[in-house]
Amino acid sequence: DKGAYPYYMLKEIDEQPAVMRKIVQKYFDENGQPKIDEDLLKSMAAADHLYIVGAGTSYHAGLIGARIFEKLVGVPTSVHISSEFAYEQPLLSKKPFFIFLSQSGETADSREVLVHVNENKWPSLTITNVDKSTLSREATFTELLYAGPEIAVASTKAYTAQIAVEAVLAKALGEYMDKPAAREFDVKHQLGLVANGMQSLTDSKGIMKDLSDKYLSKTRNAFYIGRGIDWSVSLEAALKLKEISYVQAEGFASGELKHGTIALIEKGTPVIGIITQDRTAGLTRSNLEETQARGSNALTIVSRHLAQDGDNILLPDVDELLTPLLSVVPAQLLAYYTSLGKGLDVDKPRNLAKSVTVQ
Ligand code: F6R
Repeated sequence: DKGAYPYYMLKEIDEQPAVMRKIVQKYFDENGQPKIDEDLLKSMAAADHLYIVGAGTSYHAGLIGARIFEKLVGVPTSVHISSEFAYEQPLLSKKPFFIFLSQSGETADSREVLVHVNENKWPSLTITNVDKSTLSREATFTELLYAGPEIAVASTKAYTAQIAVEAVLAKALGEYMDKPAAREFDVKHQLGLVANGMQSLTDSKGIMKDLSDKYLSKTRNAFYIGRGIDWSVSLEAALKLKEISYVQAEGFASGELKHGTIALIEKGTPVIGIITQDRTAGLTRSNLEETQARGSNALTIVSRHLAQDGDNILLPDVDELLTPLLSVVPAQLLAYYTSLGKGLDVDKPRNLAKSVTVQ
C-alpha cells in the first residue's frame, strides 16, 4: 500500500533510512559484532577470488561491493553482468566464490550462471530481498536484504540495501581473516550516519525537484560523471534517469570524457558530477569545467567536506567507502521528479517488467 504517496518509487526512496537501520538491527549483535554464519565466512575465506554476478541495478550494487571487499578483505573481486557471464565466461581462478546479487531472486540471466556454478560445485551466496526465491534456494548460502517489498519497477532501496549488506559481509569476512582494514572500519556506526544522512537528503526534495524542472525536464540527453566509486554510482544514477524519464543518460568515467565522448557536449547538455572522494575530487571538478567550457549545464552532488561555492547538492559526510549510499539518493529523486514532471507513469515505465525471467 503506498499510503499518501503518489507513487511507490517515492515511498521506497523515503524508506531507505529505515532499511539501513533494519540492516543494522538484523546484522549486528548486542556487542556490535556482525552476525554472519561462520560456515559462510569459512567458505569465503578459502576463496582466492570473489566473483559478483548481477543484472542492472544489482550489477551496479556489485560494482560498489567489489571496491569494499577489496579494501576491507584484500581479496581480488570482480563484478560481472549475468547475461554476459552466462555465455562468455571469463577465465576463472582456482578457488572461486560466487556472490549473486538479486532483489527478486528470480532473474533468469543470473540463474543461468548459478546453474553453471552448481554444476562445477563452486560455493555461492545469494544476497536477495526475497527469501526462498529461486536464486536463494539454489545457492549454497543466502543473506537477506530486509528492504521490504519493492514494488516500483525502478529499484531504489534494494540498491542501497545490497551495498549495506555487502559492507557488513566484508567487515565480517575481513575480521574473520584478521585484516586490520576491516577491524578499523566501524560499519555499524557508519550505517547509522548513513541513515541520518539519507533522511536529511529525502527531507530536501525541493532542491531536487527544482533542479530537475530547470535542467532535466526538457533535455534529450544527460551525463553523470565521476571517478572510482563515484563513477560506479554514475552508472546507477544514469540508469534511473533513463528507465523512468526516458532521458538518454550516460554514466561516464570523468577522466575518459576527453578521449572521445566530450564531443557530445552541446550548449545546455546537463552534466552532473558526483564528487565524494578526496583523491579525485579536484580531477572530477576540472573535467566538469571542461564540459562547461563547451556549454554544458554543470551540476554537482558533493560530499560536504569537499564542497565549494556554487555546488548544487551537498551530502552529509560518511566514510569514503559508503558515500554511494548517499550520492545515489539525489539521483533517484532527480529521476523521479523528471519522470513526474513529464507526466509519465513513474512506477511502470514502458517496456520494463519488475522481474526479468527471460534470458
Ligand atoms: C533497474 C532495475 C533492474 C534490476 C535488474 C535485476 O531499476 O530494477 O535493472 O535491477 O533487472 O533484477 P534483480 O535484482 O531482481 O535480479
